[in-house]
Amino acid sequence: MKMPNLLDAKIRNESVVEYIEAEPLKDRDLFKGKTYFLKTYGCQMNVHDSELIRNLVEGLGFIESEKMEGTDLVILNTCAIRENAHDKMYGFLGRCKHEKDKNRDLIICICGCMAQEPSVCEEILEKYKYVDIVFGTHNIHEFPTMLANRMNKTDFEVESIEGNVYENLEYKRDSKIEAWVNIMYGCDKFCTYCIVPYTRGKQRSRKSSKILEEIADLKARGYKEVTLLGQNVNAYGKDLPEEELSFPELLLKVSDLGIDRIRFVTSHPWDFSDELIAAIASRENIVPYIHLPLQSGSSRILKLMGRRYTKEEYLELYDKIKNRVPNAAITTDIIVGFPGETEEDFLDTLEVVEKCQYDSAFTFIFSPRVGTPAEKLPDDTPLKEKEERLHRLNEVVNRLSLEKNSQYVGQVVKVLINGKSEKGENKMCGYTETMKLVNVEGATEHLGEIVDVLITDAKSFSLNGEIQ
Ligand code: SAH
Ligand code: SF4
Ligand code: F3S
Repeated sequence: MKMPNLLDAKIRNESVVEYIEAEPLKDRDLFKGKTYFLKTYGCQMNVHDSELIRNLVEGLGFIESEKMEGTDLVILNTCAIRENAHDKMYGFLGRCKHEKDKNRDLIICICGCMAQEPSVCEEILEKYKYVDIVFGTHNIHEFPTMLANRMNKTDFEVESIEGNVYENLEYKRDSKIEAWVNIMYGCDKFCTYCIVPYTRGKQRSRKSSKILEEIADLKARGYKEVTLLGQNVNAYGKDLPEEELSFPELLLKVSDLGIDRIRFVTSHPWDFSDELIAAIASRENIVPYIHLPLQSGSSRILKLMGRRYTKEEYLELYDKIKNRVPNAAITTDIIVGFPGETEEDFLDTLEVVEKCQYDSAFTFIFSPRVGTPAEKLPDDTPLKEKEERLHRLNEVVNRLSLEKNSQYVGQVVKVLINGKSEKGENKMCGYTETMKLVNVEGATEHLGEIVDVLITDAKSFSLNGEIQ
């Protein structure tokens, strides 16, 4: 097996992006009647990649199984963002080994972001010999060939061809109501703690015509909502020729297609232009929901993180957004315990959180990732202290979420009903435009519709309501 060479990251900006039409699947039905089990960790990007994988393996004849036991193929789509993601994969591999002991023909595949890390690939090759196929985020489309080769007992090779954009990909989407649409791949920001630029490669924007075609098709098929996906989604187009669309221009064109709701994740504050704010403010169907990762409220730590903004610049951007889009729900990501973070730096973070009154926040303890610059920074804060900071931060974040959610009680809001609620037999659930999960009474007949709901009760992570 040839290993992906990630250390190419440094020279890769010189490589040229190729736009390639994906070839139709060969060997259809080669595995007719066999079953597969797919487990996905990580962000929306991985969840969406799994929709592509499902389409590919089902094209080969596999049928999805709900459990690993007794299947013919196990696929693990991994995440590499933090240490616990690694732990999850190794735990899962233990279960796979147990199955392989029972069934020697079981095919075990590891893909996703961890499979793109050389150190992980080496470890799998050496210690986990029962793993059959490893492929990274750049060669998902080659998976059927790898499976066919394995079926024919020939050897296979994994080579990471970075920098290409494949078009005409078909997905087996989880939902018929809400769809993810990749508009760009990779990330060029190289925040010093982050593994993503290494596991996902350099920034490659899709051509706007292809994106618009895909969304027009989704609309024609009855989809109500699209989420434009990218690790640094609002840097869309910066790697394309000048005559191509910028991100705000693309958003307006998507809005013109008339789909009911448009979201986008994840934005980087550095690329959040005035034109983008104006675009959001100008259209009803670009929903007032913005995920705007802060990471830290201390300008000193932000600099060490390579985030390209200061505390003051972030707050200025926040005010600009709130002035133009007053009903915007703003959510964030925060890392505590970055190397060298002092109590004073942490208090800066708490101050920004209080000022921004986030609707919700994902909070993490810094986790050193192999090969990133932050891995080598001196770090003398004990883990116990970091955990204590995380706990203090979460208390503030949860209080603010509850306060924000409580403001909805008594209001009538639009909810896109997307499925059955876990909170009771006759309840359905869905999201507000501002991405609040609502459990709705009396909406069983309204799957896939946007309905008016009176909010009756608020919790930190969800709302309850009745259809109007
Ligand atoms: N592209 C997105 C983030 C992707 S990763 C962005 O720029 O915001 C999701 C979140 O995981 C990040 O926002 C960050 O808060 C967290 N994260 C990333 N690397 C991490 C690390 N090494 N340790 C702890 N948290 C990390
Ligand atoms: Fe990672 Fe930073 Fe890129 Fe987000 S913007 S994916 S945190 S490098
Ligand atoms: Fe994880 Fe890869 Fe996403 S590292 S967070 S699955 S881009």
